[in-house]
Amino acid sequence: MNRSNSSQRVVELLRKAYSDEMETIINYQTNAIILDGVRAEEIKESLQQDIQEELTHAEQLGQRLKQLDARPPASGEFTARQESLQPPEDPTDVLAVIDGVLDAEKDAIGTYRDLIDTAEDANDPVTEDLAVTILSDEEAHRTEFHGYKKEYVGK
Ligand SMILES: [Fe+2]
Ligand SMILES: [Fe+2]
Repeated sequence: MNRSNSSQRVVELLRKAYSDEMETIINYQTNAIILDGVRAEEIKESLQQDIQEELTHAEQLGQRLKQLDARPPASGEFTARQESLQPPEDPTDVLAVIDGVLDAEKDAIGTYRDLIDTAEDANDPVTEDLAVTILSDEEAHRTEFHGYKKEYVGK
């Protein structure tokens, strides 16, 4: 890929990442509200905290797009993809939500790794640096929910 194709791909990935962050916010919010039961409290609080971080990510990605003379997408271009994060029928099914979160974080980690590589090809160290910073947050989220999963199934 030549440099101008890479720059185009950087914009596409930034827009994809922005859209994914927004979908994650919708689904974390809904799950944080619908979950019930004594075992759900810690997960609900953790989701509420992560929502604030995902919102910050979306803001940073959107600002970077603007600096690159592009725009973040709005709902008119939105395609939902997070099937496993749909709220479970049973509001005490905490494990279903944990598994959905792990899928979303794994997906985000893949996107930011892709963005890091593409930004490097495009000689865009500012986007690369942003992607590295966000990647480290997503890895922390994944580790957190791996821990919850161990608590639930690991005994
Ligand atoms: Fe995020
Ligand atoms: Fe995350």
